[in-house]
Amino acid sequence: MAGRRLQAPRGTFDVLGEDGRRRRALTGQAAEALGRAGYQYVETPIFEDTEVFARGVGETTDVVQKEMFTFEDAGGRSVTLRPEGTASVCRAYVEHGLHKAPQPVKVWYAGPFFRYEAPQAGRFRQFAQIGAEALGSDDPSLDAESILLLADILRPYEMPRLRLRISSLGTAGARRAYSEELRQHLRARVDELSDDVRARFEANPLRAFDSDHPGTRAVMAGAPKLLDRLAPEDAEHFAEVQGLLDDAGQPYEVDTTLVRGLDYYTRTVFEFTNEDLGGQSGVGGGGRYDGLVEQLGGPPTPGVGWAAGVERVLLAPDRPERDEAGEVLIRARVETPGHLDPPEPVFVAIEPGASRRTAFAIVRALRERWRRAEMEQAGRSLKGQLRHADRLGAEAVVTVGVESFRVRDMTTGEERSTATADEALGLLEPRP
Ligand code: HAM
Repeated sequence: MAGRRLQAPRGTFDVLGEDGRRRRALTGQAAEALGRAGYQYVETPIFEDTEVFARGVGETTDVVQKEMFTFEDAGGRSVTLRPEGTASVCRAYVEHGLHKAPQPVKVWYAGPFFRYEAPQAGRFRQFAQIGAEALGSDDPSLDAESILLLADILRPYEMPRLRLRISSLGTAGARRAYSEELRQHLRARVDELSDDVRARFEANPLRAFDSDHPGTRAVMAGAPKLLDRLAPEDAEHFAEVQGLLDDAGQPYEVDTTLVRGLDYYTRTVFEFTNEDLGGQSGVGGGGRYDGLVEQLGGPPTPGVGWAAGVERVLLAPDRPERDEAGEVLIRARVETPGHLDPPEPVFVAIEPGASRRTAFAIVRALRERWRRAEMEQAGRSLKGQLRHADRLGAEAVVTVGVESFRVRDMTTGEERSTATADEALGLLEPRP
């Protein structure tokens, strides 16, 4: 019986041919980069109790107010197709008592997400994300590491106009005080605002920075900036994140007007945009969410992470694998998720008073050499760090001292000292 012609639902698509290969290559390369940084692959359900997102993402966000695929199942429960992954990961962290595991807990995921948006180029109702989250530590090295991992994953794609913008939102308390100051600024010039902003700024004044409306933009240009209102410890945290990005040679712009569409962010926020994409230019973004686990019923637990939109990344062509000089540009071209189970790491421990930045640089250098490497990121004592290295099954431990470095082979117990980080790295080259 011939009926009407059947099609994929509006805002969805089939993956066929070359597209399938490129999607698997991107996921495989992300698996490799994240695995080397100690992130473990996880899966959470594609639908959740609606409250996970209502409480997690925030009642006043567009995502929760307008974009969720929410329905009642046959048992009368309200469930929602996941619009994002962070709330689900935090729900799982609480449910499985992962705060009792060694911190930070680093996980990554990939799969379909759902938002009821008006479909257009690069914007779908079912899209794929690759995401990474690190929970249980507020160490700024986790923020920087997270950002740099996303930069690494985007590198094999030709995006000459890729921009990274970063900012800090401070803590919830500082933001509340600032929001009130911003409300007063907006109330004083309410007649110049767009209808949309006027209707919503009392609930969420920060969102007004997002507006394209000329009158609103003029009002916002003269608005007080949150970055000028950060508490000293938050300003210091943000300065450290920037220092680590500088050390790594990662270009970025500090954008005081950067707002993200989800309510859970605290401190660092960031977004990579491909300016060649026009409207839907956000290829990936994220930030810190130090209150989210608690909001979902767990103990106070900091966290930081990001998600990248697979379709948006793949709108950019692949970069050539070699430049004119024959230099290899892309070193991971795996068709299937590769090192889901990466080998034993090199652990980088830090003596009291020694440079954390040097430790961070050593870890980055090791990962560039295809080694899995982790460093101390949870405030352990030196003894605790060595115990943690043991627990991770580390094959070697580099201890960054105040004036020298020690490299210990964990299988033979042999230990050698060096004066420079480069020499320490030299000792870690795989033996012939
Ligand atoms: P988000 O910015 O809402 O963040 O989404 C991340 C990425 O998903 C976007 O940059 C974009 O590339 C892609 N994306 C979002 N909506 C669509 C759509 N309708 N169609 C195609 N691509 C889309 C989050 O989801 C946070 N969970 C990120 C995060 C993780 N923050 C902390 N941890």
